[in-house]
Amino acid sequence: MEAKHPLSRRGFVGGLATAVGYLSLSPSTARAAEVLMRQGGGAMDRPFAVDDYDSYAKLAANENPYGPPESVMNAMTQAFKYSNRYSYPDGNLVAEIAKHHDVSPDNILLGAGSGELLSVAALALLSGGRKVVGVDPTFMTVYQYATGVKADSIRLPLLADYRQDIPAMIHATRNNWRDVGFVYLCNPNNPTGRIITSAEVKSLLDGIPEDVPVLIDEAYHHFVNDSAYATAVPYVKEGRPVIVTRTFSKIAALAGMRLGYAVAPPELINRLRPHSIGSINALVKLGGVAALRDTESQVRVKQVTIELREKTTRELQGIGYEIIPSDANFFMVNLKRPVQPVIDDFKKKGVLVGRPFPPMTQHLRVSIGSPTEMLRFMTAFREIMPVNGKAAGDMGKR
Ligand SMILES: Cc1ncc(COP(=O)(O)O)c(C=O)c1O
Repeated sequence: MEAKHPLSRRGFVGGLATAVGYLSLSPSTARAAEVLMRQGGGAMDRPFAVDDYDSYAKLAANENPYGPPESVMNAMTQAFKYSNRYSYPDGNLVAEIAKHHDVSPDNILLGAGSGELLSVAALALLSGGRKVVGVDPTFMTVYQYATGVKADSIRLPLLADYRQDIPAMIHATRNNWRDVGFVYLCNPNNPTGRIITSAEVKSLLDGIPEDVPVLIDEAYHHFVNDSAYATAVPYVKEGRPVIVTRTFSKIAALAGMRLGYAVAPPELINRLRPHSIGSINALVKLGGVAALRDTESQVRVKQVTIELREKTTRELQGIGYEIIPSDANFFMVNLKRPVQPVIDDFKKKGVLVGRPFPPMTQHLRVSIGSPTEMLRFMTAFREIMPVNGKAAGDMGKR
């Protein structure tokens, strides 16, 4: 078949070894990357497969580029034998998740991805015209689900440094508290990657009427290094009306398999449960149990992802671009020009990057892919964007 993206098909300038050298990854991160590139049934060994999807560098959806580790692949493969069953030994996934957080199984509700739990929360807590309070931009799906149940949203702008405006959220919630179904905090926030500090989370919980539920979406929890951040699960243990959502889609590389969960007090879980479909398949249930145990692989994913994020953002800063500091597996770069034509140019070069996130229409969101994908991104960036005011081509590429 004719190659659509010559750069991506042509043995890709030497693959991982070239990327490791170019990005000057530390020896331990290079070794970890090598292990990761063999994961997921060897998907990364075939980056130039014949169809277009496989040929793209996929930096648009904050996925884990490496695929599940062998332990998880084996568990899922074994689980095929339950394909014909409704009821089967599922590895006690709920109990395993509860143990992981030191809570009771009554505190856990599974979802087909954490996205399903946002829909469940909208159905359970926003029906009857209640409102969700959150920032803009954030993981906008929550607002789409609100619209789906004919609920409204109170969307607050980010601060000048792109952090979430907690005092404004407290103010908006207090002013509307009879109407507020829940407050949505995305921590770290998608698309900015900025965290809400544990002190800010506490000030919000202490500052709003105590019966207003707060949904804290910790999809990117596993990538955070900032010591000012902490999970909100301890508030669930205190019995506060807090719902923490987590996903196996990011650190555990199971986005296509669909598994997430909510941690909340039993009263809230009981309000959510009637709206959940329970459509979680046998493969991902057993894969999820294996993923909870395989912390070694997750340490590797975090190490390589963060080092690649830091190298890439430093390189972009070096050629004159501002970066929003991120604690997630993606970052935003200010292009100082409308982002959509640049997204289109990247696609022509075989690199998929994030969509526009209004009102931040000049910021490009870039997910952290594998070393080879990040090299493709930087190569394309230098071709598309001016470097220190000059076209990259004029300066000669490295
Ligand atoms: C902040 C946030 N929450 C939830 C999700 C949904 O993830 P999933 O449904 O795969 O668990 C995503 C996906 O990108 C996300 O970015």
